[in-house]
Amino acid sequence: MRAISSARFRLSRSTGFGIILFLLFTAPIAVHAASSPDLTIFFSSDTRGMIRRCGCTDGQLGGLSARASYIKSHRNNETLVLDAGDTFFDGLDDPKDRKAFYSLKASVLMKAMKISGYDAILPGEYDLEFGLGLLKNNARVAGDRLICANLYTASGPAFQGSMIKKIGRLTVGITGVIDDKFPYGTFPSIFKRFRVENSLEAARRQVRTLREKAGIVVLLAHLSVSDQKKFAAESGADVVIFGDDGGILKKPLRYGNTLVVKGFYEGKLIGRLDLWLGHGNKKIKSYKYKAVRLGEGIPPDPDVEELLAEYRQMLKKERFAFTDMTGLKGYFAGPDKCKKCHARSFHNWSSTKHARAFSALVKTGDQYDPECLPCHVTGYGYPTGYGDRAKGGRADLKNVTCENCHGAGGLHYNYERPGNYLDPYNVPPVHVKEKVCTGCHDDYRSPNFDFKKYEQMGGAHRGNNGP
Ligand code: HEC
Ligand code: HEC
Ligand code: HEC
Ligand code: HEC
Repeated sequence: MRAISSARFRLSRSTGFGIILFLLFTAPIAVHAASSPDLTIFFSSDTRGMIRRCGCTDGQLGGLSARASYIKSHRNNETLVLDAGDTFFDGLDDPKDRKAFYSLKASVLMKAMKISGYDAILPGEYDLEFGLGLLKNNARVAGDRLICANLYTASGPAFQGSMIKKIGRLTVGITGVIDDKFPYGTFPSIFKRFRVENSLEAARRQVRTLREKAGIVVLLAHLSVSDQKKFAAESGADVVIFGDDGGILKKPLRYGNTLVVKGFYEGKLIGRLDLWLGHGNKKIKSYKYKAVRLGEGIPPDPDVEELLAEYRQMLKKERFAFTDMTGLKGYFAGPDKCKKCHARSFHNWSSTKHARAFSALVKTGDQYDPECLPCHVTGYGYPTGYGDRAKGGRADLKNVTCENCHGAGGLHYNYERPGNYLDPYNVPPVHVKEKVCTGCHDDYRSPNFDFKKYEQMGGAHRGNNGP
């Protein structure tokens, strides 16, 4: 314990209030009084496909542009940038027919990480969702920065197990392991071609080998263990960066000579660890740690913005159609049909923000993004819902309309036609439940949502309802 505790550490502790202020406002990093650090590590993990903030509400964090911008403006020649896994996807259950879309998105994520100057990236289990091929292609995009010491295919190790980096006058060894306890068997279609070696054994072996050449050894560990400190200490590494754990540490965990930190979920923060070394640059003497919130105060990075502009162009060209939704009763009619019999509801709805929700996407050029459309149009993903006309969709069903809340009304509005009869099951529900709203007004996109308050704000019909 003694080995690492230091004046610098005490200094940052005594300014606890300063840290809180920093977390709130992302103030510029204070220049350390004594000397500049021997090594600075920027670290992230679990980006989980979060390319950018959606902008649905103010005060959102994250995005690859802010991350690149922060790293670029704070890095120097003694800097290492690392990621501890689960970069591309938010889980393992994305429909397989979306592979083309997710491949494009993954390549954007990788390019942005290259722009940000990442030295090494550990894949997580989720990154394997669409197979090793996609991951390898992206490894090439990023200039072979992927490492993993315990993932094997029939033909051998899937990635390089470790790397040695010259950082200024230091030699740093980097290795990484994924979780051998993950229930791979539950997803046989994804993992049947892989073998995962015991995480701790693989880590120890790599660390031992790296020690022969490197002064400081960093281990990336994408895994859940009950005792992170113990795992880290047993690995023998100097610094262990855990992924797959969204907890935000106020300060690193310490165990003997090992420092333990964690990445953050969805790229909302980035970690910074400054290290001062001793014993011929082979031991950590002291450190400073920061969890930096990537808020709106951080300017965008022009290179990542250019990449995002290209991404939007690609989405416009491809017009990805997510049409695998099922369970729709009837079909979508569109608000103009409802207007005929529900003139007052239509009139009231017309003056709400819902009636213009599509234009919010047009403003930023995001109107072709299949990850934005579901909440800003009607029936996206359903056979008769919003979509590219050439692919069988209806281009006129823009905005949040009657049928987002009341359900598809095609059969209902038809009932008066000759030969038709009023089917009571086809009358849309009058009562729109709160959970219909929170399907779109979720915690991330609408953190201030309150059903009663938002209804009064004119969420549905602004003032009086229908007939
Ligand atoms: C899960 C549903 C959902 C998704 C997906 C979604 N949005 Fe939104 N968006 C909302 C909601 C709800 C609001 C209104 C939030 C509020 O005012 O409380 C909103 C508001 C907005 C606004 C603000 C509009 C204004 O008038 O100020 C913008 C801009 C926006 N979204 C852009 C996007 C973009 C870009 C994407 C894709 C990256 C996206 N949204 C994806 C639900 C969503
Ligand atoms: C041809 C006329 C007509 C059209 C078009 C029409 N409706 Fe209706 N709608 C009615 C009638 C009549 C009722 C009342 C049925 C009842 O109470 O048995 C009704 C009931 C409703 C109700 C329940 C309200 C209540 O007080 O019971 C909702 C909600 C509704 N319609 C929504 C829609 C939506 C959404 C559309 C467009 C997709 C639409 N309607 C199109 C005639 C129409
Ligand atoms: C954002 C969700 C939302 C949208 C969009 C929406 N409604 Fe409603 N609608 C509601 C809610 C909520 C109620 C009130 C239900 C209650 O009282 O529990 C309602 C009530 C109604 C009623 C019953 C009226 C009454 O006075 O009892 C009708 C008819 C209706 N809506 C038709 C429409 C039509 C037509 C449109 C499109 C022009 C539309 N709604 C758009 C949420 C919505
Ligand atoms: C299909 C997704 C969706 C559903 C369902 C939905 N909303 Fe919205 N809502 C949005 C989007 C998107 C916006 C932002 C529109 C904009 O400003 O461009 C929004 C905006 C609003 C606003 C305006 C907020 C502001 O800042 O002025 C209110 C109020 C609102 N919604 C209430 C509701 C209520 C109440 C319900 C349920 C009865 C509901 N919404 C259901 C997507 C949805």
